[in-house]
Amino acid sequence: MSDGGERGYGPLGTVLVIIPTYNEAENIGPIVSRVRAAVPAAHVLVADDNSPDGTGKLADELAAEDDRVHVLHRKGKEGLGAAYLAGFRWGLEREFGVLVEMDADGSHQPEELPRLLTALKGADLVLGSRWVPGGRVVNWPRHREILSRGGSTYSRLMLDVPIRDVTGGYRAFRRQTLEGLGLEEVASAGYCFQVDLARRAVQKGFRVVEVPITFVEREFGDSKMSKDIVVEALWRVTTWGLSTRAAKLGIPGTGTRG
Ligand code: GDD
Ligand code: MN
Repeated sequence: MSDGGERGYGPLGTVLVIIPTYNEAENIGPIVSRVRAAVPAAHVLVADDNSPDGTGKLADELAAEDDRVHVLHRKGKEGLGAAYLAGFRWGLEREFGVLVEMDADGSHQPEELPRLLTALKGADLVLGSRWVPGGRVVNWPRHREILSRGGSTYSRLMLDVPIRDVTGGYRAFRRQTLEGLGLEEVASAGYCFQVDLARRAVQKGFRVVEVPITFVEREFGDSKMSKDIVVEALWRVTTWGLSTRAAKLGIPGTGTRG
């Protein structure tokens, strides 16, 4: 697969856009066609957790019509992190050079993907960022903005990662970056998966670049954000931060793994 060159991403290799879905029936058709139009050479992998609303079946219909659209059917709802890990494995087993994370609900605009991919030519990981100059959010409830900004700030300080939007989920990875992150050790299930991968990339010395994006709140369907997801993020980020600090102080039996 070396057909990534239609828009000049040739040296990076073929692009795979992974879209995790749980009950995104109204959104899956539009998002897939927008990706295919924005970056025609890219392939799409829908990673569906057996959505009760039939998203997986709709994705199968799209795949039947387009040989660059693929579907990974998973047995049940296991969280965003688990769906992405399965999607990354699928892509790394094939010859994709770039793996992209994108939400199904239109919050991550496919039309901005060319800018992320261009930035990846000079980076190992590109983060679409709401909280750098030029980045913004449209129609996001105030409480979500506060949670996201607060979560990013807490993570940045706790983990020493110089990233403004560390929880965002619009990202482009070079294959080699994912291969170097130690994905087999990642246990994060919910949205803190995003923080986990970002901190690993920084710790391993990869070049991480933030590119401003406009995040547009979904029009259809519901967010899967829940109290459990917030609690998992809070305790994991706190644990990672404290164990890194303990290791730096030389306290035996502490480290940055897990
Ligand atoms: N397969 C699968 N399994 N997909 C899931 C699951 C799951 O358990 N949970 C969520 N998703 C999918 C949704 O269907 C959607 O495509 C995407 O993951 C994002 O979920 P949303 O529920 O729309 O997230 P959000 O809008 O509340 O949160 C956004 O902000 C977070 C905080 O910044 C996203 O951009 C997150 O990626 C981000 O971490
Ligand atoms: Mn969303």
